[in-house]
Amino acid sequence: MPSLPPGYSIRRTQPRDFENVVDTLRILTTVGDISREQFEDIVTYWNSTTINFHGKQIHAYHPRVILDGSGRVIATGTVFLERKIIHEGGLVGHVEDIAVAKDQQGKQLGLILIQHLTALAHEHGCYKVILDCDEKNVGFYEKCGYRRAGVEMDHRL
Ligand code: ACO
Repeated sequence: MPSLPPGYSIRRTQPRDFENVVDTLRILTTVGDISREQFEDIVTYWNSTTINFHGKQIHAYHPRVILDGSGRVIATGTVFLERKIIHEGGLVGHVEDIAVAKDQQGKQLGLILIQHLTALAHEHGCYKVILDCDEKNVGFYEKCGYRRAGVEMDHRL
């Protein structure tokens, strides 16, 4: 199992991470105009939203950032835990919005982030963890232990 380079760390995303998280996410997709206040509102919502699972209050959202030795956010991603009725009221983890800064790619940081989020979901009791990705990233997720399952569809306005 790979480990973070010396001086790098992983932690929960905080409202103060605005600039670096937004910059890192621009590698993934369109972020558009988002103000510091909007970002802080969203992260505060994520960090205060809990679900009851087997009598325990747990976070529904688990946003994480990886920081380099200078404290700059260089990777970001989230796992969201969804409470179901099926599978005896089970939990499903959804891995979302994974991005590693361009100058940091190829150092196993994406793999470490996915392994971290996946382990976190299973530790909280998820019976499965799922994600949607482009064809070009299938090889990466296979390296992370995922396999093809089903077909992604969407409906947009
Ligand atoms: N296809 C096949 N293999 C890959 C790919 C790929 N696109 N990317 C990485 N790998 C391999 C690496 O070669 C490495 O293999 P090795 O262990 O044999 O050396 C292994 O996967 C782990 O690679 P990492 O170094 O951990 O990958 P990296 O840190 O560069 O992160 C990521 C990969 C997240 C896809 C990054 O390139 C990125 O941020 N891309 C742009 C944004 C993006 O597409 N994010 C994913 C969206 S899907 C979602 O969010 C659910």
